[in-house]
Amino acid sequence: MNIIIKENYQELSTFTANLIAKLIRSKPDCILGLATGSTPIGTYKELVRMHKEEGLDFSQVKTFNLDEYLGVGIDLNKPYHLDQSYARFMYEELFKHINIKKENIYFLNGLTNDPEAHCKWYEEQIKKAGGIDLQLLGIGRDGHWAFNEPGSSLASRTRVQALTKQTLDDNYESFYKKAGVDRSEMPHFALTMGIGTILEAKNIIMIANGSKKADVVAASLEGPVTSQITASAIQLHSGGITVVLDKEAASKLKNTEHYMHVENLKLKYNLP
Ligand code: PGA
Repeated sequence: MNIIIKENYQELSTFTANLIAKLIRSKPDCILGLATGSTPIGTYKELVRMHKEEGLDFSQVKTFNLDEYLGVGIDLNKPYHLDQSYARFMYEELFKHINIKKENIYFLNGLTNDPEAHCKWYEEQIKKAGGIDLQLLGIGRDGHWAFNEPGSSLASRTRVQALTKQTLDDNYESFYKKAGVDRSEMPHFALTMGIGTILEAKNIIMIANGSKKADVVAASLEGPVTSQITASAIQLHSGGITVVLDKEAASKLKNTEHYMHVENLKLKYNLP
């Protein structure tokens, strides 16, 4: 596991965007797994900048998003702040600014009338595309990856999940409040890739910033692997794992000195 600690959110975002851009340049038809939430916004901004200023080419890239609220669908007729779908978030923060093809963008459809069949279809599309090359992930304060709330099986597949009070509180503060939506009217269910699905990605980048994430970051990286903190499944992944943190999110880690030492060695010897 590469654990990289950056000075601040901007550096975290630039570093993460550079890792994604490196993959796109070396494999233009790569399959990206993408995440929503406040954490990746800076990474997406930087990718947009690279597209506009450096010609980073998304024309062959395919994307699969992690999750979507059940019962919620994108509505481009609404102003952004009134459309809480994750599809709209991705459109506004990334897709509308780059040259990705519409047919290469995959989402879980929150308006499906057969969630079970739809989730199965989504898994099939990922397989058909050849699997995810690089999955970007945040981490929730309750330790979730995507909407895999505490208690989710670490072998879970794409399915419907009930959201925890903590997740509802956090998402209310970050997104729903701005739309003037009453807390009680927030969707309580979501469609989400499972932990088993996520672990099949060839490479994983997990990002976290801010002191609010410090406890859960330490628990997921240095604590026991447990379905109570589904992001702790990162310890089971067999491929390339990079965790990019700012100083605050890294502040409760015990082995920081070692992680920094490893990073310095890699830089010195030019290792991947
Ligand atoms: P955040 O959410 O980026 O808004 O903190 C992370 C997550 O829930 O995975």
